[in-house]
Amino acid sequence: MILTVTLNAALDVTYEVGALEQGGSHRVRTVRERAGGKGINVARVAGALGCEVVATGLLGGVVGDLIRDDLDAAGLAHDFLPISGPSRRTLTIVETETGEATVLNEAGPQVRPEEWRAFLDHFRALAESASVVVLSGSLPPGLPADAYAELVRLAPGKVVLDADGGALTRGVAGRPDVIKPNAEELLRATAGAGTDVQPGHPDVGGGRDIAKPSEDEPASTRGSLSADQPEGASGGGPEGLSVRGASRGAQSGGEGGVAPAGGAVAGGEPEGGSAGGAGSEGDSMRGAVSGGVLGGGLAGREWFGEVVGRADSLRASGAGAVLVSLGADGMLAVTADGVWRAVPPRAVAGNPTGAGDAAVAATARALLLGRPWDALLRDAVALSAAAVAAPVAGDFDPDLYVRLLPEIMIEGLPCPS
Ligand SMILES: Nc1ncnc2c1ncn2[C@@H]1O[C@H](COP(=O)(O)OP(=O)(O)OP(=O)(O)O)[C@@H](O)[C@H]1O
Ligand SMILES: [Mg+2]
Repeated sequence: MILTVTLNAALDVTYEVGALEQGGSHRVRTVRERAGGKGINVARVAGALGCEVVATGLLGGVVGDLIRDDLDAAGLAHDFLPISGPSRRTLTIVETETGEATVLNEAGPQVRPEEWRAFLDHFRALAESASVVVLSGSLPPGLPADAYAELVRLAPGKVVLDADGGALTRGVAGRPDVIKPNAEELLRATAGAGTDVQPGHPDVGGGRDIAKPSEDEPASTRGSLSADQPEGASGGGPEGLSVRGASRGAQSGGEGGVAPAGGAVAGGEPEGGSAGGAGSEGDSMRGAVSGGVLGGGLAGREWFGEVVGRADSLRASGAGAVLVSLGADGMLAVTADGVWRAVPPRAVAGNPTGAGDAAVAATARALLLGRPWDALLRDAVALSAAAVAAPVAGDFDPDLYVRLLPEIMIEGLPCPS
C-alpha cells in the first residue's frame, strides 16, 4: 500500500476568466472545486494507476468536510485526522485567452501541538501497513520545522519526500529514500553549496535499500551522461544538456495538446528556436541557474555538473536519492548507483501544475515494485508529461502516457559497483 500524507490539504478552487486585469472586475466563466494538496494529487494519480493507496493528513472545518466529501466522491481511500483549525483553499485563476494561471495560496490552519502529537500516533499506525509513504507539500502553521523528518523516522517502509525550503532541508535529516525537488527547490535547498560541490555520489549509507539500475539496459543508453564527459547524442547544444523553458510556458502553440519539441535529445527544431541557446526567453532552469541563486553565466555541462553536485550535497545530508525535475526537460536521478537523465520527446502543452505530483506517484509505484532507476525515470517522465496534458492537477491523459512511454530518451552513467 502507498500512504500519501498531505498535512496542508486544500480545497483547490479554479476560476476561469477571459483575461485577468489587475484592479479590474471579472466575470467568472466557470468554477471548479476539488480536493487538493500535493499528497492528494499523488494519491489520485497512484490510484488511477491501479495502486492501493490511502491518503492521510490533517483536515479541519467546513473546508475540511468539503475535501473529505470530494475524496469520497472520487472513490479515494482516506483517513485524515480531524483538527480544530479550518483547512485552506487555494485559488487558481486561469485566463482562457492566454492559458496563464495565477495562483493564490492560503497558509493553512494553525495546528496545535497536541494535534500534531495525535497525528504522529495516527500516522505510525497507518504507516505500519504502507510499503511506501509519500510526504508532499507545505507544512501548515504550528508544525515543527522538522515535521517531515519525524514522519520519515516513524515510517518502516520507503519514503518519498517532495517539499520546499525548510520543510525539505529539515526533512532530509530524517533520511528519506527519495526526494523530488524541482530545479528551483534544489537551488533553494542548497543555497550556499555553490560550485565547490563536486559530483561524487558518495554512499553516505543513509538511504534504505533502493532499486538497482537494470542490468539489461542496452549499453547505448549508458555512459553518456557526465559533467565532464560530453556526449554527442543530445543534440540540444554543444554542452550536451540543453534546457528549454517550457515547464511553465508550454500552454500555447500546441497541436492536439502537445507542443512542438524543444529537441533536447529526441526531437526536431525547438519551439521558438530556443533549445540549447544561451539566453533563451522563458528558459526556466537556465534562468534559475544563471539568473537566480547562482548568479551568472553557467551553461550546459557546467550547470549540469552544478545540479548533480547540489543533488549530491542533499544526498550527503541524508537523502537516499535525488530526483530533480526539470519541467519540459524531464528528470535527473542522482543516486548511489549512478546518475540517470530522462527527457520527453517533446514539450507538452497544458497545465504543468501537478506534473511533479504525477512524477512522485510514478516514483512511489516504482519503489513499491522495486523497479530500477531507468525504468522509474521513464515512467515518471511519461506520466508527468501526460499530466501536463490534463487540465487539472491530479489527472493525466492515459493515452498520451502510453504513447510517450517508449519515446522517453534515457541516458545513464551507473557507478561501477
Ligand atoms: N511542458 C512539459 N512537457 C513535458 N513534460 C513536462 C512538462 N512540464 C513538466 N513535465 C514533466 O513533469 C515533471 C515535473 O515537472 P516540474 O519540474 O515542473 O515539477 P514541479 O515543479 O515539482 O511540479 P508541481 O510541484 O507543480 O507538481 C518533469 O520532470 C517532466 O517530466
Ligand atoms: Mg513540485
